[in-house]
Amino acid sequence: MPLVLRPAKEEDSLRIGYIGADAFRDTVSRALFPPRMYDKSETGDPRQDEAQWRGLRNAGRMKSGKITHVIVDIPEDGSSGEEIVGMAQWEPPSQGSDAAPDASTETQQDVPPGSLDQEELAKLMKLIDEISIDILGPQGHSNIYYLMVLAVDPAHQRRGVGKMLIRRGLELAAEAGKDAFLIATLEGRGLYRSVGFRDVGKPLDLANTPHYPMLWKYPGSNPS
Ligand SMILES: CC(C)(COP(=O)(O)OP(=O)(O)OC[C@H]1O[C@@H](n2cnc3c(N)ncnc32)[C@H](O)[C@@H]1OP(=O)(O)O)[C@@H](O)C(=O)NCCC(=O)NCCS
Repeated sequence: MPLVLRPAKEEDSLRIGYIGADAFRDTVSRALFPPRMYDKSETGDPRQDEAQWRGLRNAGRMKSGKITHVIVDIPEDGSSGEEIVGMAQWEPPSQGSDAAPDASTETQQDVPPGSLDQEELAKLMKLIDEISIDILGPQGHSNIYYLMVLAVDPAHQRRGVGKMLIRRGLELAAEAGKDAFLIATLEGRGLYRSVGFRDVGKPLDLANTPHYPMLWKYPGSNPS
């Protein structure tokens, strides 16, 4: 079925949340929603908790004017019922170039579910900021395009969905004349390499999962 990229609408947020929860279930989600916290779940279903929490964060980011891109799978018979199969959340460069990255912006609006390990989340956000500053300098990723989340529904992986989403982000970065930065999982690494990202800095452990900082240089920028 044809795959089409479009900006997400606010009502897509819960589906976006489920895609994140399912795509990261064997990696980051295991650390953020560990089995030892399951009995604190208000819904009795930690997957649902995570999807709702991710969905609320997405709605919050959209309210603040940021775009989430989704890929929808359109039925060929012309019937309604498109399915969202992948999503990407890019952080555009902030307006004021002096701004330091702010891990708190994403966490302020949401009410965290009981099954979320908030200490682990705070640790993760802090580490990401530290790594960005370490690699990119005092402004961290605030002056370039930063891929915060890329996730494809496991049932729709390896169809080119991830590549469409990453290419769209790189088009935006190129239009703005900016570099792009991300911290890859092992699964994403080959995809990012194939579109021109290169390893930068050392591999590291984030949420008990190996990760790889990677940088894409805007073709018109000075080599460094
Ligand atoms: C990483 C991820 C986004 C890739 O999405 P996808 O839609 O399956 O990727 P694509 O189909 O566009 O594949 C693009 C390329 O990456 C390669 N690739 C995709 N999945 C791969 C995997 N699991 N292992 C190795 N290579 C892989 C493909 O071979 C393809 O190369 P090609 O163009 O030469 O065929 C998806 O596997 C995912 O959501 N994983 C879990 C969450 C995650 O790790 N996200 C990345 C966080 S930084």
